[in-house]
Amino acid sequence: MKFLVLNGPNLNLLGLREPEIYGKQDYRALEDFVRQAASEAGVLVDLFQSNYEGGLVEAIQQAYGVYDGIVINPAAYTHTSVAILDALKAVRIPTVEVHLSDVSSREPFRQISYVSYAAVKTIAGKGFEGYREAVFFLKDLLTKEGGRHV
Ligand code: DQA
Repeated sequence: MKFLVLNGPNLNLLGLREPEIYGKQDYRALEDFVRQAASEAGVLVDLFQSNYEGGLVEAIQQAYGVYDGIVINPAAYTHTSVAILDALKAVRIPTVEVHLSDVSSREPFRQISYVSYAAVKTIAGKGFEGYREAVFFLKDLLTKEGGRHV
């Protein structure tokens, strides 16, 4: 079972960026955390971060036929991107949406998630731990469904 973990704009600045909201650990630490979680879950994982909407759209398109599941933190594009939503709907790969912060208790513009229309689950406010939960959730879902979705 192989998952693609996508992170959107400014997540490469973790540690520097609003540490009171996103924590003090950097993006490299997040990558290490996700790889460790994947190894515990017994799944393969690739990670990709982009500050560009089109970069994320292309990564989703290229995931078709390659990955069984997607974990995505679209960052600011969560609240704006119909293009990312449409890409996820096109490839129909089971997707879990993750946010480090509890977006539901932040500014009103963060209450809207386009990506959630294509996600089987949204996990927010659990920091790095949310990615682990997403990996295990997808693994359990796909195991129940009997393996490959695409
Ligand atoms: C975020 C929440 C978004 O509103 C914000 O734009 C981000 C990060 C989170 O992980 O909490 O960049 O997705």
